[in-house]
Amino acid sequence: MADKAIKQQDQVKEIFKVVSQDYDHMNDIISLGTHKNWRHQLNNMIPFTKDMEVLDVATGTGDWAIATAPQVKHLTGLDYSPDMLEKARPKIAKAGLTDKITLVEGDGTDMPFESNTFDIVTIGFGLRNMPSPEAGLKELVRVVKPGGIVVIFEASQVDNPIIRPFWHFYMTHIIPLFGRTFSDHPDEFIYLHQTIDNFVSKKQLKKLMEQFGLTNVKYKNFMLGSAAVHFGRKPADLISEPKTKSKSKKK
Ligand SMILES: C[S@@+](CC[C@H](N)C(=O)[O-])C[C@H]1O[C@@H](n2cnc3c(N)ncnc32)[C@H](O)[C@@H]1O
Repeated sequence: MADKAIKQQDQVKEIFKVVSQDYDHMNDIISLGTHKNWRHQLNNMIPFTKDMEVLDVATGTGDWAIATAPQVKHLTGLDYSPDMLEKARPKIAKAGLTDKITLVEGDGTDMPFESNTFDIVTIGFGLRNMPSPEAGLKELVRVVKPGGIVVIFEASQVDNPIIRPFWHFYMTHIIPLFGRTFSDHPDEFIYLHQTIDNFVSKKQLKKLMEQFGLTNVKYKNFMLGSAAVHFGRKPADLISEPKTKSKSKKK
C-alpha cells in the first residue's frame, strides 16, 4: 500500500480507538434509536441459511454480526481495531453466540483468509473508512465463494432534492450537536460523518462492484436514502487466485 494510504489508514484506526468507548451509545443517538431495527430489516433481504459460513468485514462492536449469526452456521467478524473488537466480545457472550462468532483482528484491504471461502460477505459502514472503495472491494470479491453474495451497507448522500436540505442540516448541525452533548470525542464523530460526502455515490458503487466482476448488482435505499444496501453475486465461474500471506490475530 502507498505511504499516503497507510497514513490515512492509521489515522482512521486511531479514530476508532478513541470512539470505541462511546460508539454504541452514539450509534443509538445518531440513528435516533433505529439502527438495530434496520439491521433486522436488512437481514430479511439476505438469503442466509443455516449451513452458511459468513464473514462480516469491519464488524466493529459486533451489532450486525450478532443479528446475523443465529441465521447461519458460523460467522467470522473481522476488524482492524482491537478496541472495537473488545467492545463486541461481551455483547456476543451476552447474546449466547460465543460458539458461533469468531473475531479476527485484521485489515479488510488485505484479509487473512483463503480466496473463495465464504458463502456471504457483509460490510456495514466500513467501506468508506478504507483507503479506497476499490481496496475493500478487491478483497470482498476475493474471499467470497463463486456463486456467493457480497452485501455492502453504507451511509450515503441523499439524492432526493426535497429531503436533501434536511439531511444536510442534520449532518452539519444536529450530529455535531449530539457529538458535543453526548460524547467526549465530538471531533472524531463529526469527522466520521463528514466522510460520507467524500464517498462514491450509490450509482458509482454499483458500477465499481460490476467492474470487480460481481453480477446482478442492485441497491436499495434505507432511511430516506441516507444509507443504502448494495448486493452483488460473484459468478460461479469467477474463481479468485489463492491468497498471498497477510498479518492477523485470532482474538
Ligand atoms: C463505523 S464502524 C462500523 C461497525 C459495524 N460494522 C457497524 O455496522 O456498526 C467501522 C468499522 O470499520 C473498521 N475498519 C475501518 N477500516 C478498516 C480496515 N481497513 N480493515 C478492517 N476494519 C476496518 C473500524 O475499525 C470500525 O470498527
